[in-house]
This record gives sequence, structure tokens and C-alpha cells, in this order.
Amino acid sequence: MVEVSAPGKLYIAGEYAVVETGHPAIIVAVDQFVTVTVEAARKVGSIQSAQYSEMPVRWTRRKGELVLDIRENPFHYILAAIRLTEKYAQEKNILLSFYDLKVTSELDSSNGRKYGLGSSGAVAVATVRALNQFYALNLSQFEIFKIAALANLAVQDNGSCGDIAASCYGGWIAFSTFDHQWLKEQESSKTISELLALDWPGLSIESLHTPEDLRLLIGWTGSPASTSDLVDQVHRSREDKMAAYQQFLEDSTLCVNTMIQGFKENDVALIQEMIRKNRELLRDLSAITGVLIETPALNKLCCLAEQFEGAAKSSGAGGGDCGIVIVDQKSGILPLMSAWEEAEITPLPLHVYHQQKED
Ligand code: MEV
Repeated sequence: MVEVSAPGKLYIAGEYAVVETGHPAIIVAVDQFVTVTVEAARKVGSIQSAQYSEMPVRWTRRKGELVLDIRENPFHYILAAIRLTEKYAQEKNILLSFYDLKVTSELDSSNGRKYGLGSSGAVAVATVRALNQFYALNLSQFEIFKIAALANLAVQDNGSCGDIAASCYGGWIAFSTFDHQWLKEQESSKTISELLALDWPGLSIESLHTPEDLRLLIGWTGSPASTSDLVDQVHRSREDKMAAYQQFLEDSTLCVNTMIQGFKENDVALIQEMIRKNRELLRDLSAITGVLIETPALNKLCCLAEQFEGAAKSSGAGGGDCGIVIVDQKSGILPLMSAWEEAEITPLPLHVYHQQKED
């Protein structure tokens, strides 16, 4: 039997801008996991997940027709990851077989609440990793990223795949996404092996070393929102405000690149300054698009953190979920933890997860 895990993620900076080719974000892998097991079966296979089996498949109407919204349901990411990894295996003349694939997730809390730790990305990565071992494909970390990213694109086309990069590489990463349109065009005429061998324009994944004095705190405010829906809303409402949106992209890129510099120079104060700057930029984006990113609860989380010398912002798409705080190791965190709890903000006891080895 094969058993592999992939960690969840949290965005530190660069959200929304990172869905556009070449605009950077900083993302971190956290020690909550999706685990996939694969066991050989005879004649018929199965896919099982306790967490996801009761998840509703949402639907909407387009021109009156019922259309499934498959983007929030992890089963579709599992199926896409299987289909693409098996396509690659066939290209390598490997005989396909039957198996029972089982998924367990720590990224969803026990009562089914999502913490916004990126379960769909982690599930795609864990599935590709599991089949990589099951079929002895010998895929590199970068190739696993690329297959999981292709699986992600097959289900939803508006994400950056930053969650997948964090889940594949672990630790802190600087990430910018590839040209999605270019990849879709390539996909129509190329094999998976050919796609893996190509340089994907715009794609960059760089591991960051963290300053010793840097400490990351995470608070959860509940009421998660759909990331894909929020990205859709931002994209719809930017149409008639392109100049302001372009300015946001430029400012976000400058801010995140300065933050990356802060990591390289072990400068916690500079990283904190850029966290605050990025929070402002996301507020500007909300003003441009009318999409609420920093909810009143996230605002409370950030304001309390600022009172105790932390630099804070929403993490990910916002609209609920998590906020992150960067503090200097030397400042005490207990008063902030108590203040959060009084304000019904849940401190999440997560740690940064560093990859043990290349799987
Ligand atoms: C959501 O976790 C972060 C966004 O930038 C979307 C994405 O990168 O796919 C809003």
C-alpha cells in the first residue's frame, strides 16, 4: 500500500495579483495534511473520503440551464489528478491497473468547517504523489507540481496554483504563476510528457529562508467564503476600472518583491512594513472592485494584532477565514492570544511545514 501526504497552505502576501501571470506572492505550507492511500484492487476501483462524501455539489443556472459548480468539491480535483497522472503513465508505457484510493483531510475541521488552508490544491498534490509511487513513475517535485497544476486548471481556471506550489515544496515560497492561456493552447496539441518538459512562461517558485526572529501567528474568524467566487467577482468588476486595477498589480508586485528582499536580508521590520502595505493595497482593491476582502472580523483580528506590535493582514481570498500576523520573536504573544479569544477569533496552532525530502 502507498500512503502519502501533502500539506495545506496560507497566503502571506500578494493575493489576487498572483492570479495574473508573473505577479509574485509569498505563501507558506502549514502542518495540516491531506493524506492519500492507494491499494491495489481487482477488477474494480474505488475512491473514498469521509470528509468529502457529504459535501454538496453546488449548481447554478446559465441561460436557464443547470450547471454544476464543481470548483469547491475536492472529488473533481482527485479525478482530474488521476486522469492526468494516468495519461502520463500510459505515455511511459506503464500498464494501468485498479486500486482503492482513500483520502483523509485535516484541512477541514471535525465539524466540516473549512479553514481556508487549501484542501483542493493539497488533494491534487497528494493524489499525484500517491500515483507517482504506485506506478513508480519517478516524477520530480517540479513535475508533480506541473501535473497537479494541470489538474487544478481542468477544474477551475481562475486560480493561481500558488496553493499547489506551497503544498509541493513546503516551507516559505515566493511564487508567480504561468501564462494560463498559453498552457491551454499547448495542452490541445501536446502530450503530458511534452508539457512537463516545456518551460512555462511566467512560472517561478523560489524557496525562502526565514529570519530567525520572525514568528508567524494565525487567527481564524469563521465564515469562510468561496475563493473562486471572490476571484470571479474581482475579475468581473475590474473590467471598467482597468487603469486602477493595473496600478494595484504594479503596487502589489513592488510590495511583494520588497518583502522578498526582507527575507533575503533577514529584515523582520521590512517584512512587517510590507505586510501593512499589502493590507492597504488589498483595501484599495476592495474599493476598486466593491469586493469585501477584509471583513469586520478580519479587521478586528488585524487591529488587535497591531495593538501588540504585530503586522497583520487577511490571508488568501479574505471574505472570512484566516488572518496572519508577523511578529518579532522577541515580543510576547500571550496578551494578543487572550485579546483574540475575547473577540471570538480562534488562534490556530499551526506551524510552518518543511518538506522532509523530495517525493
Ligand atoms: C486565495 O487563496 C488567493 C488568491 O490569490 C487566489 C489564488 O491565488 O488562486 C485570491
